[in-house]
Amino acid sequence: MRLGAFLYPTGYHVAAWRHPDVPAGAGVDIAHYTELARTAERGRLDFVFLPDSSAMRGDDTAELSRTAIRYVAQFEPLTLLGALAAVTERIGLTATVSATYNEPYHSARMLASLDHISRGRAGWNLVTSQNPYEAYNFGLREHPEHDARYTRAQEFAKVVKGLWDTWSDDAWVRDKGAGLFFDPDGVRPLDHRGEHFSVRGPLNMPRSPQGHPVTLQAGSSDVGRDLAAATADVVFTAQHSREQALTFTQDVRARAKKLGRDPESVQVLAGVFPFVGRTRAEAEERVERLQDLIDPLVGIGLLSSELGHVDLSDCDLDGPLPEIPVSNSGRSRRDLLVRMAAEENLTVRQLYRRVAGSRGHRQVVGTPESVADDLADWFTSGAVDGFIVMPPYLPGGLDDFVDLVVPELRRRGLFRSEYTGTTLRDHLGLARPGR
Ligand SMILES: Cc1cc2nc3c(=O)[nH]c(=O)nc-3n(C[C@H](O)[C@H](O)[C@H](O)COP(=O)(O)O)c2cc1C
Repeated sequence: MRLGAFLYPTGYHVAAWRHPDVPAGAGVDIAHYTELARTAERGRLDFVFLPDSSAMRGDDTAELSRTAIRYVAQFEPLTLLGALAAVTERIGLTATVSATYNEPYHSARMLASLDHISRGRAGWNLVTSQNPYEAYNFGLREHPEHDARYTRAQEFAKVVKGLWDTWSDDAWVRDKGAGLFFDPDGVRPLDHRGEHFSVRGPLNMPRSPQGHPVTLQAGSSDVGRDLAAATADVVFTAQHSREQALTFTQDVRARAKKLGRDPESVQVLAGVFPFVGRTRAEAEERVERLQDLIDPLVGIGLLSSELGHVDLSDCDLDGPLPEIPVSNSGRSRRDLLVRMAAEENLTVRQLYRRVAGSRGHRQVVGTPESVADDLADWFTSGAVDGFIVMPPYLPGGLDDFVDLVVPELRRRGLFRSEYTGTTLRDHLGLARPGR
């Protein structure tokens, strides 16, 4: 089973920063992140993952001032991963990189640097940017259109990977006697000319330990799945039933096969938002404790953004969800929530309580045994290859997962006790692309 730890600074739950055991200044505290990365490594997890956005998610400062999870205060993630590489040895180090608001040369160079610094533990989550507020920081009046962002992302990935391939593995002879630093036959330019990018290359950086840092992807729409099928080693997804997860996995793999890839080389990790307690009652108490800390202003703001930034300010909180138009932001999340509200007859308030906590991901509540049983069931049925674990609050939620759930998974023979390799590709069982 593959396991990654999803690290929002104070935890995934929207009210986590108000929890008495959570350091409220976590987002800019290197000691906090060091502790989290070391905990994940102690659990022998595959990787830590840092989500990202280059803007606060929203412009209502009254609402934003009451939450810590909407990118209001956290480190730039690749910079942070460089620091974490120095205080860990084996854990994979991954973060979001936006194809919409970066240049591929910069990204290829930063990721190859991180791969060298960490000795082969780097990975990137290639996103098209969910947060429309990023546009205003990059000279645009709005996000480029949804599918156009994915077209750019396809080309972005091609250029990044092409740049990583501009040097052969053995180009760097560094022969002092002969006075030859690198073998000129080991380098080639990229000479890419496309719709969005014109990049000559080569990269001014030796080929990195993994050849290609690991590519993660999280799009779920039709074009999102096409991007995953074309580019990803690991796909993140939000799924609520084992059957839907299996359908998703089969679909992404079929798309990869059509493109000539080995379908089994694409690994699917479903989001899971776990509350663990010594008893079920204790786990439920932990949920309620956080739910009661949700500010209504924040709850409604979050629901609105998950639905594609629709205006919900006039709606009746205790009535049904009004008609929600399709927007230019992420689509799969909107569809999931609209379906959930209809199927379970939820009021707007009930939906925001549901959403504000888990934000569309699957909440699992129980004892270490029952949480492990649940994960084992999804895994052994072939629905997913593993999970991207979103601890509700930090550092306690990650400690609980590593100290209570991981040993249960080991007892079932489903998770490693020791790392067998040194790179993130080794952990994930992925071949290293050579050149
Ligand atoms: C586990 C997970 C992590 C994600 N992390 C980010 C992120 O850090 N930044 C971002 O802009 N979008 C992130 N997303 C959102 C996706 O990139 C994508 O926008 C979303 O799934 C909607 O995709 P779609 O428009 O193809 O349906 C994440 C999604 C998932 C499931």
